[in-house]
Amino acid sequence: MSNRMRAAVIGTGPRGVGLLKNMVHIQEMTITALCDINEEFLRNGEKALNEKGVKPECFTDYHEIIARGEEMGLGTTKYTVVRLD
Ligand SMILES: NC(=O)c1ccc[n+]([C@@H]2O[C@H](COP(=O)([O-])OP(=O)(O)OC[C@H]3O[C@@H](n4cnc5c(N)ncnc54)[C@H](O)[C@@H]3O)[C@@H](O)[C@H]2O)c1
Repeated sequence: MSNRMRAAVIGTGPRGVGLLKNMVHIQEMTITALCDINEEFLRNGEKALNEKGVKPECFTDYHEIIARGEEMGLGTTKYTVVRLD
């Protein structure tokens, strides 16, 4: 397995998608998971990454990402603060 940092972005609204477009350029990081409770916004985030050749796993419940225990998390929702250790 690559030793690049694995990142999950939770909340792929305008702010989240903007962050994704910057995060794909970080060499030390791979965005491996996305989450949004809104399927349309989730697909927006997936599309933004697919256009850069990145294929994240997509979830509508961030608890599933936490349960994987594989990623560091970045929350871009208004009310949800998530820390994945
Ligand atoms: N848009 C910007 O340019 C900008 C700039 C700086 C800071 N911010 C801040 O960033 C945050 C997000 O901004 P935004 O414009 O993207 O807001 P937004 O409300 O459009 O997007 C938030 C996304 O989080 C999703 N979400 C909410 N609860 C969730 C949950 N429990 N699990 C998964 N997904 C969930 C929503 O469905 C939505 O797609 C806000 O707090 C905002 O103040 C935004």
